[in-house]
Amino acid sequence: MTALTLSTAGAATLRADAIVVGVAKGAKGPVVAPGAEAVDKAFDGKLASVLETLGAAGAEGEATKLPSPAGLKAPVVLAVGLGAAPEKNGSYDAEALRRAAGTAARVLTGTKKAAFALPISEAADTAAIAEGALLGAYAFTAYQGGADAKGSGKAPLAEVALLGAKPRDKAHKAAAERALALAEEINRARDLINTPPNDLTPEAFAAVASAAGKEHGLKVQILDEKALVKGGFGGILGVGQGSANPPRLVKLTYTHSRNAKTLALVGKGITYDSGGISLKPAGHNETMKCDMSGAAAVFAAVVAAARLGLPVNVTGWLALAENMPSGTATRPGDVLRMYSGKTVEVLNTDAEGRLVLGDALWKASEEKPDAIVDVATLTGAMVLALGNRTFGIMANDDAFRTAIHEIADEVGEQSWPMPLPAELRKGMDSPTADIANMGERMGGGLVAGLFLQEFVGEGITWAHLDIAGPAFHEGAPYGYTPKGGTGSSVRTLVRLAERMGAGDLG
Ligand code: BES
Ligand code: MN
Ligand code: ZN
Repeated sequence: MTALTLSTAGAATLRADAIVVGVAKGAKGPVVAPGAEAVDKAFDGKLASVLETLGAAGAEGEATKLPSPAGLKAPVVLAVGLGAAPEKNGSYDAEALRRAAGTAARVLTGTKKAAFALPISEAADTAAIAEGALLGAYAFTAYQGGADAKGSGKAPLAEVALLGAKPRDKAHKAAAERALALAEEINRARDLINTPPNDLTPEAFAAVASAAGKEHGLKVQILDEKALVKGGFGGILGVGQGSANPPRLVKLTYTHSRNAKTLALVGKGITYDSGGISLKPAGHNETMKCDMSGAAAVFAAVVAAARLGLPVNVTGWLALAENMPSGTATRPGDVLRMYSGKTVEVLNTDAEGRLVLGDALWKASEEKPDAIVDVATLTGAMVLALGNRTFGIMANDDAFRTAIHEIADEVGEQSWPMPLPAELRKGMDSPTADIANMGERMGGGLVAGLFLQEFVGEGITWAHLDIAGPAFHEGAPYGYTPKGGTGSSVRTLVRLAERMGAGDLG
C-alpha cells in the first residue's frame, strides 16, 4: 500500500514528484488555501490568478496540474478544489479535505511521491488528509497486467508526505497512525469485495480472515458446514446448500485487557448472490459479488480495532454463504429451522441475507454483548429510498440509532435513520412457519429490518446498517471513492467502537 510520512520540510524544498495544494472558492474567485504559501511565493504570489486563468474555481472535485516555476523542488503542482472557503479564521471541513486529498491521490496515479501541502490547523485535519490520500490511492489490479494486457499499467501513488502535520506532535502522529491502519483495513475490505466470486468463496474468505486475524492478535473460530449442521444453523445452511462452495460462520474476537464493554458486529457475507431458485434476472446479478460487503466491513473494523488497541472488546461474526440455484438449493416454499429455533418459510430465495444474519445475530446474542450492530447489503428497497451513497440505519433503540447517525456524519459517511414500523410485521405472517422471509413490497428495507429484529436477543441494544446503496460504486470515481468496493461503514464502526470504549455510549 501507499506509504505515509509526516514531514517538517518546506513545500518549496521537499523532494517529490508533485506538490498538492488546495484551492477554495472565494467571494471574488479562487483562493489558495493555507499550507501552500511557499508554493504561491514561487508563483510570485499569483497562483490564484494563474489557476483562475486555467479555469479553476476551487470547486470540489476539481484538479488542475501545472508545471512548477523555478524555486520549487517538485516539478509539478497539483491544485485540488476544496469547495467554499471557510469564514475568516474558520477551518476547512474534514470531509472536504478528505475528498480533495483523495482526488489528488487518484489524479497522481503513476506518480512515485507526492507532497501534500493542504490546510492543516489541527490533528483532525492530518487524519482527514491522510485518510483521503490513502483511500484515494487505492486500485484493484490483482487481475490485470497479464503478459499481453493493455490496461493503463500505472501503479498507484507510492508515497504520500504530509507537510504541516507536525511529526513531533503526539496528536498529529497518532492521527497519522490511526489513518494508516484504518485506510489499510478499508482497502483490505475493498480488495475482498472486488475479488471475483469464483475466487472468493466462503471457504476462501474464512481463510483470509483467519490469516489476517491471527496476524493481528485476534482469536479466530470457523464453523464449517459440518459444525453448522451440528449447531443447527438452518438459516446459513439453507442459503448455502445450493452451492458447491459450502458456507462458513467465522467469529473474530478482539479482547482488550481492561475494558469490560463488548461490541458485537455481524456481517452479511454472501460471496455471490444469484438469487437462488428465485433467480435474479440479467442486469441484476453482475455486481452481486459485492453481497459480502457487510462481512468485509465487519472484518476490517475488528482488525482495525485490534491494530489501534481500542479500549473495548469487539467481536466480529461473518455469515458466509454462496446463494446459488441447483438441485440441492432451498426452494421457495421450504421451511428452515433457524439457530434460534424459529421456523422460517422461504417464500423468496433471493431474500437470503436475513436468513444468514438471523442465525448470526442469535449466536452473537448468546454472549450478551453491550450492543450488536449488523451490516448488510440487504435490500434493493434501501437503494431506492436513499440512493447510492447513503446507508440506512434501523435500531431497537432510538438513542443508539441517533448516535450511529451522528458518528457516521462525523467520519464522513452518509447515512439516514429509518424506522421499524410495527405494522409491517404482519406481512411476514406465514400459514406454515413462525415467520416468512418476505413481507409487503412497500417499505421492503424496513420489512427486512423487522425480520432481523426477531433474531436479536431480549434486552440487547441493536442496530442494522443497510449498505446496499453505498457498498459498491458503479459510477466514475470521485474524491476518495473508487469504482467497485468502497469499504462503506468501516469508519463508522471503528469510531463507534472507540466511543463505546470511551464510555460515551451503551
Ligand atoms: N443482495 C440483495 C440486495 C441488493 C440489491 C444489494 C442491490 C445490493 C444492490 C438481496 O439479497 C436481495 O436480493 N434482496 C431482495 C429482497 C426481496 C426478494 C424481498 C430485494 O431487495 O429485491
Ligand atoms: Mn438476494
Ligand atoms: Zn443478497
